[in-house]
Amino acid sequence: MTPEIAALSQRLYGDDFEAVLGPRLAALGRVQSEYPDGCLRVSEIHVDPTRRSDGIGRMLIRAAVEQAVQQNLGRVGLQTLVGNPARHAFEAWGFDLVSTTTDEEFQRLSGAAGYHLMVLDV
Ligand SMILES: CC(C)(COP(=O)(O)OP(=O)(O)OC[C@H]1O[C@@H](n2cnc3c(N)ncnc32)[C@H](O)[C@@H]1OP(=O)(O)O)[C@@H](O)C(=O)NCCC(=O)NCCS
Repeated sequence: MTPEIAALSQRLYGDDFEAVLGPRLAALGRVQSEYPDGCLRVSEIHVDPTRRSDGIGRMLIRAAVEQAVQQNLGRVGLQTLVGNPARHAFEAWGFDLVSTTTDEEFQRLSGAAGYHLMVLDV
């Protein structure tokens, strides 16, 4: 946890923030997948709701692909929550579903069963 996140968490949850956040971070850790070798990771992709379906998401992924090629990496990877309809966009753009990791405690805390790992060969 970075000092900035620790300070923000303390403001949000008070002095017992570690007790509150600890189980959440542990559950989050359990649903992270191992990325394949040679994979450029996209950690977040969000388009302003008023500008969706304008091709911006596809353009952002294209930029990630270009970056992967420049870095001699053969893949672009990302994780998306199970149930997120964005998965269909990623599939339409050529990403393959590589694995799905679920965790009951994560589902209880977040409402989503876990994460899909999706990878695009470039
Ligand atoms: C996923 C997201 C980034 C796509 O960005 P975008 O700029 O709208 O995508 P584009 O305009 O480039 O591409 C749109 C195409 O992708 C597909 N697509 C996009 N969102 C989709 C969805 N929710 N379900 C099915 N297909 C989808 C469709 O083929 C769509 O074509 P259409 O508009 O003609 O139907 C955007 O919907 C978003 O920010 N979602 C919320 C944040 C999120 O969940 N991000 C993913 C976290 S990993």
